[in-house]
Amino acid sequence: MIDILRQGARLPALGLGTWVMRGSDAVRAVRQALDIGYRHIDTAQMYKNEAEVGRAIAESGLDRSSIWLTTKIDNANHAFEKVKSSTEESLRRLRTDHVDLLLIHWPVFEDASLAETLDAMAELRYAGKVRHLGVSNFSTALVAEAVDDLGHEILCNQIEYHPYLSQNAVKAVCAKRGVIVTAYCPIVRGRVANDPVLNAIGIDHGKTAAQVTLRWLVQQDGVAAIPKAASKANARANFYIFDFELSADEMARIDGLAHGQRLVDLDGWHPGWDAA
Ligand SMILES: NC(=O)c1ccc[n+]([C@@H]2O[C@H](COP(=O)([O-])OP(=O)(O)OC[C@H]3O[C@@H](n4cnc5c(N)ncnc54)[C@H](OP(=O)(O)O)[C@@H]3O)[C@@H](O)[C@H]2O)c1
Repeated sequence: MIDILRQGARLPALGLGTWVMRGSDAVRAVRQALDIGYRHIDTAQMYKNEAEVGRAIAESGLDRSSIWLTTKIDNANHAFEKVKSSTEESLRRLRTDHVDLLLIHWPVFEDASLAETLDAMAELRYAGKVRHLGVSNFSTALVAEAVDDLGHEILCNQIEYHPYLSQNAVKAVCAKRGVIVTAYCPIVRGRVANDPVLNAIGIDHGKTAAQVTLRWLVQQDGVAAIPKAASKANARANFYIFDFELSADEMARIDGLAHGQRLVDLDGWHPGWDAA
């Protein structure tokens, strides 16, 4: 495992995404991942599976301190008091007294300003209920506003990032401010499996296209990835990416696959994307 060290945090570069996992399937998939060795789990209030994630962690018998747990605030909970009360509810569902990372899931500010939401998150951090603050789906302008104008320490910006979407502008703004980029949809929801370039590189390393893609992500400085895998075979395969290395030439060939393909583009929620 590669750990990313920033702002006093030690973030395992590979985590398990849990979107669309529900009920007993979610408990089973998270338990399975923890048994394989994953120590970074990504959930959200919006996913309606925090209770299942909490149950899986409790049943694993692992020490809470050995697991990095991220959750995200729902768009409806951005007002000051709602940030605090909804996070308390998340903690109850997750059966923990703190999360390692609390993210603003989407930059939708109808009932509250960015400043108000971040101030409430900072109070939670001060109270020890949240270890680090982060954002998701933030553009270059919004990252700059949160860090430079509002003065908050932002550990991470979770964005769609994979070989078909370069995210060069957002990555540069984040890198300059010590903000980790966490890649969601890192394997393009499984579609990288058909990519000839990724498959060709994989053959040279005895790896699949998905493993090559995840390796390309975590081999970049300050980049984490959270592939979702409900099946045991996929969860295991995605975890075994730390026993090989891509050359500079291979990294560049994968960089060259970007063509601005975005999978998640929700009307009214996105911030006005940067060119990517
Ligand atoms: N912040 C946000 O707004 C946001 C938005 C979207 C997603 N996310 C987070 O990012 C996580 C990952 O994104 P995602 O779930 O949309 O897409 P993804 O991780 O790119 O793809 C998941 C899909 O790929 C399949 N898969 C997993 N490993 C594979 C492998 N080695 N080979 C072939 N197929 C494989 C999975 O199948 P099985 O499950 O059947 O194994 C699943 O169908 C989410 O679960 C969520 O936690 C965040």
